[in-house]
Amino acid sequence: MDVVVVGSCMTDLVSYVPRLPTLGETLHGHKFSMGFGGKGANQCIAASRLGASTAMVAKLGSDTFGDNYLKNFKDNNVNTEHVGQTAEAATGVAPIAVDDKGDNSIIIVAGANHCLSRSDLEGADDLITSAKVVICQLEIKPEVTLAAMTRAKNQGVCVVLNPAPAVKRLDDAMYSSCDIFCPNETEAEILTGTKVASISDASAAIKALQGKGCSTVIITMGSQGAVFAEPGQEAKHVAASPVNAVDSTGAGDAFVGALGYYLACMPQLTLSEKIQRSCTIASFSVERPGTQTSYRPKHELPKELFQV
Ligand SMILES: Nc1ncnc2c1ncn2[C@@H]1O[C@H](COP(=O)(O)OP(=O)(O)OP(=O)(O)O)[C@@H](O)[C@H]1O
Ligand SMILES: *[C@@H]1O[C@H](CO)[C@@H](O)[C@H](O)[C@H]1NC(C)=O
Repeated sequence: MDVVVVGSCMTDLVSYVPRLPTLGETLHGHKFSMGFGGKGANQCIAASRLGASTAMVAKLGSDTFGDNYLKNFKDNNVNTEHVGQTAEAATGVAPIAVDDKGDNSIIIVAGANHCLSRSDLEGADDLITSAKVVICQLEIKPEVTLAAMTRAKNQGVCVVLNPAPAVKRLDDAMYSSCDIFCPNETEAEILTGTKVASISDASAAIKALQGKGCSTVIITMGSQGAVFAEPGQEAKHVAASPVNAVDSTGAGDAFVGALGYYLACMPQLTLSEKIQRSCTIASFSVERPGTQTSYRPKHELPKELFQV
């Protein structure tokens, strides 16, 4: 496989309401929609739409949402041999309320995602150790994430960690068990304890993260693009393309998925070029609503993105 993701699957349940409900209140919403989410699955599907061969290692519930998610993976050409279903917990869900001003409140119930175990990883060992790139995030149990990263890294597989959602403290081994550490501004800020708003803030945060044991670090900066540094080299800034922004949800996952694609499928490009093209692809996703629904397949993207 080009890209193997060990991570989360969530079903987003979005209610559009005039305002967010208060304690004990019953409110009528005016619209409802469901979406496939979970950072792991988003990144896997983003890589697959670009043409990478992909597999997901994950846990769903033995329920309707789980069955639907399996179908979603199949529709997107993702190998699901190591996507299990459990009766111990429900498929992960994120009930979200969005009010007329665009403010939201979100509940996340990880459910079955927390049932993905080390023994599941052992079952997927051949897949993980023979992948070109393994991508992890922080929506499953941290010890399972770390075990996947260490196993892959020890076998010479390129490991990318997207340390999301943001946490205050990470096991030190997480920093040193990946080849590329890829947080957004908020995550970099929380991990380093220093503000990350400008390009120079990001360069300083990268140094701090490398001080904690990271090798290459890439910080995504929304409309400002990304800042990255390889070990021992100066930080460089890559600009994002100006777009007609409609909905930035899932842009970070589009970036990480695209990066996985370039690392595995176009290794001849420089890291800077891989990041530039991943930014371009992530920026395109901001022009469409939703998360996975906003990821364009290869044939809808400029040909230059796939030429050496
Ligand atoms: N408003 C924007 N205009 C252009 N490109 C954007 C914009 N927002 C995001 N991008 C692109 O998407 C990439 C990732 O975005 P960002 O840093 O916001 O990730 P994130 O905060 O994890 O995203 P999310 O919105 O999913 O939480 C950026 O590096 C950039 O290339
Ligand atoms: C960064 O990602 C986190 C999820 O980990 C999200 O809550 C936050 O809004 C993102 N930050 C920015 C600046 O987009």
